Amino acid sequence: MAEPRSNELMEKIVSLCKRRGFIYQSSEIYGGINGFWDYGPLGAELKRNVKDLWWRHIVHHRDDVAGLEATIIMSPRIWEASGHVDTFSDPMIDCKTCKGRFRADQANEIPCPQKPSKMVSECHGEKTEPRAFNLMFTTHVGPVQDDSSVAYLRPETAQAIFAQFKNVLETSRQKVPFGIAQVGKAFRNEVTPRNYTFRSREFEQMELEYFIKPDEVVEAIQGRVAPAGDGHPGEPQSDWGWQRWHKYWVEERIRFYESIGLPRTTLEEYWQTPEELAHYARATVDILFQFPFGTQELEGIAARSDFDLSQHARCSGKPMAVFDEELRTAWKDLEEPRRQALWQRYHDARYGYLTRSGVDPEAAAAMAKDDADGLAKGNYVPHVIEPSAGVDRLILALIANAFSEVSETDAKGKTETRVIMRFHPRVAPIKVGVLPLLRNKPELVQKAKAVRDLLRPHLTVFYDDGGSIGRRYARQDEAGTPFCVTVDFETLGEKGPELADTVTVRERDTAAQTRVPIAELAAMLIAKTR
Ligand code: GLY
Repeated sequence: MAEPRSNELMEKIVSLCKRRGFIYQSSEIYGGINGFWDYGPLGAELKRNVKDLWWRHIVHHRDDVAGLEATIIMSPRIWEASGHVDTFSDPMIDCKTCKGRFRADQANEIPCPQKPSKMVSECHGEKTEPRAFNLMFTTHVGPVQDDSSVAYLRPETAQAIFAQFKNVLETSRQKVPFGIAQVGKAFRNEVTPRNYTFRSREFEQMELEYFIKPDEVVEAIQGRVAPAGDGHPGEPQSDWGWQRWHKYWVEERIRFYESIGLPRTTLEEYWQTPEELAHYARATVDILFQFPFGTQELEGIAARSDFDLSQHARCSGKPMAVFDEELRTAWKDLEEPRRQALWQRYHDARYGYLTRSGVDPEAAAAMAKDDADGLAKGNYVPHVIEPSAGVDRLILALIANAFSEVSETDAKGKTETRVIMRFHPRVAPIKVGVLPLLRNKPELVQKAKAVRDLLRPHLTVFYDDGGSIGRRYARQDEAGTPFCVTVDFETLGEKGPELADTVTVRERDTAAQTRVPIAELAAMLIAKTR
């Protein structure tokens, strides 16, 4: 069958998502609200599975990552320190003719008001010069609405991790290298929300801040810093510098996407050019996915140096340096030329950060000297690698990747096209459909309900007794359910005792059917969906 064109495909996806309850427009009964989306019953399950898998992969399966769940509204000083108050903006232009407001780089390509998945050209009216438009949503805390009560809905989950770094370090008994992970809502008042849920104004992030030793500290302790290398660098080693850690997290994240059903061939790695890098970043890799509307970012993995912790140390007055006994001991044993070289490199990096952050050169030189002198006492500010993923983008990628159409011709020659959502069983919203062959046979219904109750503590189960068995399989295929269990007359022992208490297990992707004893069912389905 010919592949549908990308806009056609997006229209089919949007229509399926609404029809089957994956995604609805927020506030639809009031005409909707641009840039906000709700997840229906199937979408909510899909999203929950994705977040749980990320958490398990990043936090539960590792010894070196701890979790955090911080508030959405935090002290506005956090956003001053992070740079968001001053610089988190898009250039925006107004059209004097149609009164529209657009991102300067997107003025000729806006979502069609009737069909948001379709892009249309904006009118050719006279435009204003671009102006900076801050993307943070503001609110007020307390009953008085003035400048002193302004607060922001967080535009990223990352900053709470930096602000709580010392608390987590102390209470989790972790030592650098270690990470702090958080999943939660973030808000950006995008000038032009677009591409369905891809660029929404309210969205969810899954962010890890993985704190590492600066290269000078690694070299002081280990005598060398391992080169970046190619491919997955394997199990973490104590001589890794930031480049190898960065490579490690890029590869780990790609493996995660593969493990939930996005083949490597649908992903691309994009290394930002020096001109594109944020001023604090040493390197950033975007993991891109081939969406129907173009190849776009799923996740960014940034090596952010010690910028964030240093900013919070400077702005809050609370030290963010850690003490490392190994460094203190190793420093004493270094040969003088190497000690001097490491001191100088650390000093220059700190001086560079401080002057770029607006500290005057004389004060910066004194502070950088103090920081570099701290190495001898075992003190340093950790650097960070940040894998930052967008949940909603990932959901859209999984939906687009799973979407497939099949055409079937029946005995009368009638051809029907239907959708099969080929989700990886790990993320599928429903793992098992349980179906009695007929709804008007109480013995079949009773047995099917017993099977449902047997599986329910372990797996997301959907019981369905409405319509022909073929229709019910088709409904589960469209929901992306990888397995259906059918209770039939064999199960009841009516076709011979050897088949009593066995059921048919049908696989979504092959339609293959196998007979399985009920006693083995739960273990088999758990193994196939984990
Ligand atoms: N913390 C990085 C981001 O939100 O994009």
